[in-house]
Amino acid sequence: TKRWYANDFQQDKQEAIQSAAELLKAGETVAFPTETVYGLGADATNKAAINKIFQAKGRPQDNPLIVHVATPQQLKELVTSIPNYVDKLLEAFTPGPITFVLPSNGRCAENVTAGLDSVGVRLPGHPIALKLLQEAAVPVAAPSANLSGKPSPTSADHVWADLNGRIAGLLDGGTTGVGLESTVLDCTQAIPIILRPGGITKEQLEEVVGTVMIDPGLANDKEQRPKSPGMKYRHYSPDAPLWLVEGSSEKLQQVIDAEMKKGHRVGVMAASKTVTAIEADFKIDLGANMETVAATLYDALRMFNEHDVDLILCEAFSEQGIGQAVMNRLKKAASDYIK
Ligand code: TXA
Ligand code: MG
Repeated sequence: TKRWYANDFQQDKQEAIQSAAELLKAGETVAFPTETVYGLGADATNKAAINKIFQAKGRPQDNPLIVHVATPQQLKELVTSIPNYVDKLLEAFTPGPITFVLPSNGRCAENVTAGLDSVGVRLPGHPIALKLLQEAAVPVAAPSANLSGKPSPTSADHVWADLNGRIAGLLDGGTTGVGLESTVLDCTQAIPIILRPGGITKEQLEEVVGTVMIDPGLANDKEQRPKSPGMKYRHYSPDAPLWLVEGSSEKLQQVIDAEMKKGHRVGVMAASKTVTAIEADFKIDLGANMETVAATLYDALRMFNEHDVDLILCEAFSEQGIGQAVMNRLKKAASDYIK
């Protein structure tokens, strides 16, 4: 795997991006930073190239990929029709962390959409991603650049740890910003439906288009099947079991104490205020506000694997704003939820 350093201080940043774009055009896989998480890209019109993504990640074939483009015009070239509200959302939030699921016109390779008649398209807001897409001049399919089942990568080192030797290239642009994946929005109906909460919140969407629904399949009741194939998998799992704990820091401390008494080594992750109020074997401070919690969450999940804990406890957060995406990922990672 060829690794280029493409941060702003690098003289040869443009050449690095150009070389990465050449690899993409030649049908190879390249990991690159976006404003959400690192993506593992390949030419979306090249079936053999797309197959390499599924192989490198060990990704189930029935899980469709998001296609990344540089301009709204390129998005329009991949779909049969666009509702008016999508034009408003494009104007308000792109380039940025939102994916539009629209009726596909079949231009992408069939393994990109996993046989669905819709395609997810997004215009990423990261300068390196945008430059790469412009240079490659093809739509680039890119799932998160992690091994399937691991937390999504928010740094080039995360990508390297998972995929070194399995992909052709990695553009290292430092850590990503948002830290959680894009909001996936089903735009094939009269009213948009959130299939995966993410970087753009429900509240933000509603300000622009009024009513927005949430896929009932996202609720944890296991009755309904999520409409987004990727949401049915248990994800993001650290090696040790993770329990979500709702309530005060005193209550969290009681759970910690009970587990430590059993001889378990207990790791805790929580917002700054809670972290300073509790005692445990190993603590990770996720930050003082929800934006920081979102940005540090995946790195924290990976960090526990290196600290040999028997159990991870995480405080439950309010499902407001970006908290909705944070809790969605935590619930998928958790094996228990103590209320
Ligand atoms: O922020 C992101 O979206 C990152 C960066 C790299 O862009 N990408 C990402 O891709 O998270 P991935 O493959 O890890 O997640 C894509 C999600 C999956 O849950 C998939 O099932 C869903 O989007 N998806 C893709 N196309 C879809 C479609 N046509 N209909 C419904 N869901 C779709
Ligand atoms: Mg993923």
